[in-house]
Amino acid sequence: MCGIVGYLGEKNSKEILLGGLKELEYRGYDSAGIAVLQDGQFDSFKAIGKLVNLEEKTKDFVTDKFSIGIGHTRWATHGKPTELNAHPHLGSESYVVHNGIIENYAELKKELIAEGVTFLSQTDTEVIVHQFEKNLKTANSAFDAFKTTISQLEGAYATLLVTKGEEETIFFAKHGSPMLVGINAENEKYFASSDTPLIGHCSDVNYFEDGDFGYVTPDELAIFDVTGVKKEPVFQKLSTNKLSAQKDGFRFFMEKEIYEQSTVIADTLIGRLCDAEVLFDELDPTLFDGINEIKLCACGTSYHSALTATYLFERHAKVKTSIEVASEFRYRDPIMTKDTLFVVISQSGETADTLETLKMAKAAGLKTLVICNVDNSSMVRLADACILTRAGVEKGVASTKAFATQVTVFWMMSLYLAGLKKALPQEEIARQIALLREVPASVKVEDEMHEKIKRLSKRYLHGHGFFFIGRDVFYPLALEGALKLKEISYLHAEGYPSGEMKHGPIALADPELFTIALLPQHLLYEKAKSNVEELSARDSTICAISSIAFDKADDFIPINECKDYMLEFFEMMVVLQVLSLEISVRLGNDVDMPRNLAKSVTVE
Ligand code: AGP
Repeated sequence: MCGIVGYLGEKNSKEILLGGLKELEYRGYDSAGIAVLQDGQFDSFKAIGKLVNLEEKTKDFVTDKFSIGIGHTRWATHGKPTELNAHPHLGSESYVVHNGIIENYAELKKELIAEGVTFLSQTDTEVIVHQFEKNLKTANSAFDAFKTTISQLEGAYATLLVTKGEEETIFFAKHGSPMLVGINAENEKYFASSDTPLIGHCSDVNYFEDGDFGYVTPDELAIFDVTGVKKEPVFQKLSTNKLSAQKDGFRFFMEKEIYEQSTVIADTLIGRLCDAEVLFDELDPTLFDGINEIKLCACGTSYHSALTATYLFERHAKVKTSIEVASEFRYRDPIMTKDTLFVVISQSGETADTLETLKMAKAAGLKTLVICNVDNSSMVRLADACILTRAGVEKGVASTKAFATQVTVFWMMSLYLAGLKKALPQEEIARQIALLREVPASVKVEDEMHEKIKRLSKRYLHGHGFFFIGRDVFYPLALEGALKLKEISYLHAEGYPSGEMKHGPIALADPELFTIALLPQHLLYEKAKSNVEELSARDSTICAISSIAFDKADDFIPINECKDYMLEFFEMMVVLQVLSLEISVRLGNDVDMPRNLAKSVTVE
């Protein structure tokens, strides 16, 4: 998730902007920059890596009079983390910072280049400042040019723009990405992507709504709604607890990240879905030339998303797909053939076991692809190709939104491959693309469901263990649900294919054995139901998750009736995440930093 800061006032802009960016570090980033306009003169600085690099670059730069300034920490989604791709982006006399994804940037960029504009970066953001300066040539005012520019953008943005001709004005617009403005008694104006940079500087803040745009000057905060009608700011008092603010008021980062899944999955989808075609502009289709098998390799939760992919790849793309646990693959003298595309999956891009298997595949001459959340990570730098999941920084050690965006990418990829191989009719691809567009809504956490699970969790704090069971793609989901519970509650849990119960595990069935049963309506429901009835008949305590009421369950967590099993998958995923969270809370564990675990396992 990128971070934005802005400042207008008499204080030391540089220090305020850098301080604000430091407060946004928790959002994760791979480069940063600031631009300040004082005395009609712009000064801009950018650096890749951590903020200390930017501080070093700005150490001799002083702002000691009225100025306006903007700053940004970048989490790469389009274009590598380089200084050229870092924000702020420059036109000829204007700078812009932006959080989100401009979905129609390619068309705008093409027009601008045809009109002679030179682009320095690979980013979508840069089109904003060049489009603004194009509009400035014909507009009656800088604000009109800004207003026109915003109306021409599609996608998600929180953006700040400053221009040389308007030395006392910062323009802003917000749609789909968070941003707020703060004021104080000294007529200063502060902008940020979230509360923390404003704490200690502002007394009152206004959280922008989607469609809001406008400008600030020393004496004015002008906000216009999506229809262009001026609106009054709605100020509220700013919280004073920084850590709480970083968690946006949630109890834990994991909880916040579960609630963020709707937003980040929407980001994952942006620019990749047409009506009947999935696009990955970061992939060269020739990557798949000569490929007869896809081998997926990962650890932990990433292994579970990859296991989900094996069902989707073979079902949709009709391509032979296999999967490996990285720590096993490394040492079993595997046979690797060059007609295999080797795909590693990793949230961090640094997991030692997975990284080593990537090196093995490269050494064996295989083509490689990484599905990752962190650009410029070791795996991204090493693989032949990369698809970024755009989950933003994941602070909770127990992975949630990284898993959700990985599965989303894999679902899209299965349809992308089906299109390449003409393995599915166009109308089926179109049908599933329409379903993909519903995933952000399907993972929204409903208060009623969360409250129900919070109450229910008190029943699952003991016992001699849990079975999480499911069939088909709900088997990897069962594995993931079991891992989530183990990780943060320290209770024993196992994921199993439902059909495996009678091959031994059912011997454990008794009232102290809790079975979390995934019963999707649209995939093998009757088969899964009979497996659960076998357990219920032996007095195992059953918690069924389904859109269909199940009378043999001791507990029942309803999900919404869905059009397709993949939407049931995402709804049940949220239930499992919230269930493990609430059990862990009741047990008094450290949800975000569970014992013995690290966020990135960079050792064997
Ligand atoms: C997930 O909840 C765990 N924290 C862990 O299994 C993790 O998925 C695994 O270590 C792989 O990490 P990676 O995705 O960064 O490679």
